[in-house]
Amino acid sequence: MHANGQTAFAGIIGSPVGHSLSPVFQNAAFEAVGLNWVYLAFDIAPGELQKSIAGLSACGCRGLNITMPYKRDILPLLDDLDETALRVDAANTIEFRNGKLIGHNTDGAGFIKSLRQDAAFDPEGSDALIIGAGGAARSISVALGQVGVRSLKILNRDTGKAERLVRLIGSYFPDCLVEVADSGGVDPAGFDLLVNATSVGMENNPGLPLMLEALTPAQVVYDIIYWPLETEFLRIAAEKGAQTINGLRMLLFQGAESFSIWTGLDAPVEHMGAALKER
Ligand code: ATR
Repeated sequence: MHANGQTAFAGIIGSPVGHSLSPVFQNAAFEAVGLNWVYLAFDIAPGELQKSIAGLSACGCRGLNITMPYKRDILPLLDDLDETALRVDAANTIEFRNGKLIGHNTDGAGFIKSLRQDAAFDPEGSDALIIGAGGAARSISVALGQVGVRSLKILNRDTGKAERLVRLIGSYFPDCLVEVADSGGVDPAGFDLLVNATSVGMENNPGLPLMLEALTPAQVVYDIIYWPLETEFLRIAAEKGAQTINGLRMLLFQGAESFSIWTGLDAPVEHMGAALKER
């Protein structure tokens, strides 16, 4: 598609953003549905966030994604937050609605959609283990609480952080049994869903977030890391017999949710996924 005088724009704000994959699948999405929009990446210096948001808004930006390191810094600049962004205390999506900036967080919804679509797994009533207690773990825990998991165990190197996340999730979802997992006594066989929400397994942080024993095809092992495509954790999980999902799928589906917020349209997920795969 060639930009012309009517082309509208959306984009992503972060630093660095040069390697972001969002422009790949968002531009594919606009093209697939025939919208004359482009999606651009904006690398914003820390002191320029407020000015950038005001400037983009004044220029008629149709929607933004927010990524590292600004998912929390953006909050005071927004007029309103949806319930999920409020609970996660971070926004990855801005909707420009009638001159107001509304913050959303689609990471968790993207995770749940991917589970349903990629593994035909319905998390309602299931027992889940989340490894990690940072921002990603919080998004995923809130999403799992929202869809009604039966129990949630949080395993983290820093147990104080795990305890804080457990208290928070317990306060939002009193019917969910939320506990800190004891690092010495986690039996992977006891969970329907196991999620690595740490950076352990990335090229610059090699290792295994949890030792895995025999698993079954009914168990789903998710790694939010999307590069490498198959982390050590996923490779072993697949060998031990579980269904595995890579973080690219969560990335894709969170983007699909953002697309729908900005455009009011169903996201052409197949086209978006194909563009991502090609890249
Ligand atoms: P994000 O927002 O992507 O979740 P984060 O908030 O920095 O990033 O969280 C990173 C997570 O990876 C944390 O759970 C962190 O554990 P700690 O809270 O104990 O720091 C986890 N993590 C990173 N490197 C790790 C390592 N080498 N071993 C175990 N956990 C690690």
